[in-house]
Amino acid sequence: MQIHKYDTVIVGAGGAGMRAAIEATKRSRTAVLTKLYPTRSHTGAAQGGMAAALANVEEDNWEWHTFDTVKGGDYLVDQDAAEILAKEAIDAVLDLEKMGLPFNRTPEGNIDQRRFGGHTRSHGEAAVRRACYAADRTGHMILQTLYQNCVKEGVEFFNEFYVLDLLLNEVDGVKKTAGVVAYELATGEIHVFQAKAVIFASGGTGKFFKVTSNAHTLTGDGQAVAYRRGLPLEDMEFFQFHPTGIWRMGILLTEGARGEGGILRNKDGERFMEKYAPVMKDLASRDVVSRAIYTEIREGRGCGPEGDHVFLDLTHLPPEQLDAKLPDITEFARTYLGIEPYTDPIPIQPTAHYAMGGIPTNVMGEVLLDNTTVVPGLYAAGEVACVSVHGANRLGTNSLLDINVFGRRSGIAAAEYASANDYVELPEDPASVVEEMVESLRNSTGTERVTEIRKALQETMDANAMVFRTEATLKQAVSDIAELKERYKNVSVQDKGKRFNTDLLEAVELGNLLDLAEVLAVSALARKESRGGHYREDYPTRDDINFMRHTMAYREVAADGTVNIRLDYKPVVQTRYQPMERKY
Ligand code: FUM
Repeated sequence: MQIHKYDTVIVGAGGAGMRAAIEATKRSRTAVLTKLYPTRSHTGAAQGGMAAALANVEEDNWEWHTFDTVKGGDYLVDQDAAEILAKEAIDAVLDLEKMGLPFNRTPEGNIDQRRFGGHTRSHGEAAVRRACYAADRTGHMILQTLYQNCVKEGVEFFNEFYVLDLLLNEVDGVKKTAGVVAYELATGEIHVFQAKAVIFASGGTGKFFKVTSNAHTLTGDGQAVAYRRGLPLEDMEFFQFHPTGIWRMGILLTEGARGEGGILRNKDGERFMEKYAPVMKDLASRDVVSRAIYTEIREGRGCGPEGDHVFLDLTHLPPEQLDAKLPDITEFARTYLGIEPYTDPIPIQPTAHYAMGGIPTNVMGEVLLDNTTVVPGLYAAGEVACVSVHGANRLGTNSLLDINVFGRRSGIAAAEYASANDYVELPEDPASVVEEMVESLRNSTGTERVTEIRKALQETMDANAMVFRTEATLKQAVSDIAELKERYKNVSVQDKGKRFNTDLLEAVELGNLLDLAEVLAVSALARKESRGGHYREDYPTRDDINFMRHTMAYREVAADGTVNIRLDYKPVVQTRYQPMERKY
């Protein structure tokens, strides 16, 4: 076992991790641990844009952006955080421009902006062009730009290091951050990183669904590690289904396609979103559009022999516009479906896309134990975190914004904390939990296979915890997950070696997904209302009296070793905007 010592350790090298690293490295000795190579992080898959009220192409301002974010999140958004997000968006985009990001430009040479779902002028009057973009590769460009700037700043990366545990130690009755424990893929060695401050920026959890836009690597590692160390997970029942995934594959086709004028059509060729969202139509918020698609399908207006999808129609847009603005997704249609988007509509269905919930933080990225108590030295940013700027449903383009705004904030805050505080002593035998986990998986003689349990998990999640939910489906999910967790105790890995043992790490990742799927289902079962991405057919309306509150899920271990999920709640921060009925 090797021991390393850094002021600040960042877990994850996607947009949030690297934006944090640029700040933290200037102020403290910083290491970034990533289970991938930085430029393979999932930020690179984000396509359509990053929101900021630059008003480069039409009138806009940060207050409209704040309102849209709060309304998009179905009023579960913490409004102080949303205001910071929208205000700081402008500098966040300009910072990226200065770092070298090649944004699309207007004829005058300004950063161009396009329409996106739920982004409006004057609190809902009409769609506004707020998304700054680089064709349909905005996330890719952000990732490359941040990486180049990390290299310039001398950020130290530990690539293919899997963080499997968080070290906390009690000082004067307060649990403080002491570091993390990581597994090195190349060697199978275990490394302890002692740190004054740790930032989790390890991304989302989407791989517990089958049809998803998420990469194979999005297994909620940071959330699971924190949860097992007794920290809460906030609002995990809120998961976003992006309306336009490639049919059956889930690969993302950007909402920017509808921002450029693309239209959703049912089997009769009808532009059905006019019925569900008369003003914003195809650019309503994602939860609204995804429910509309499934309503069309359920009512028999789906396309194809099985009636299980609808079409994204781009055929009325000039080929030059498609080539210039949407080169990647039009190529995806050709490659994966053999469809020519110039002339034929593209079969799509909603795809599991984004976790609104995660590790609770305040606006400086400090991790919260409850409504107000912070865990000294611990931070989180990006999809792993819940600030909460996305509430019950995130607006498209607010995630690339979130990683930049709150990545930067947490990088500064963590490094300042590290400068002002000493190391906390490592707990005795700091790697013991990880060593035991890894060895018991490596030596297991069980008969269960990772792939089979993961497939069963994804099937129950797609069937029971997706766009439409009921008490019965959620109970089914809870019971299926409990059974899969029992089977997981008997899981074995075939590769018993130490070097590049991805088999072993997939087993660890599956354990993470099982824990987090259970939290999602239990939290969703308890929320007897419909709000944003959480739609209960048995409770189809929003219930502000009983449920205008954030869920906080805690893992509790009883004296006999039984593990339970305890749900608690904390209030939503409301400043300017009173909850209203949400219409698009
Ligand atoms: O549709 C998209 O391009 C996705 C963007 C996002 O999730 O923010």
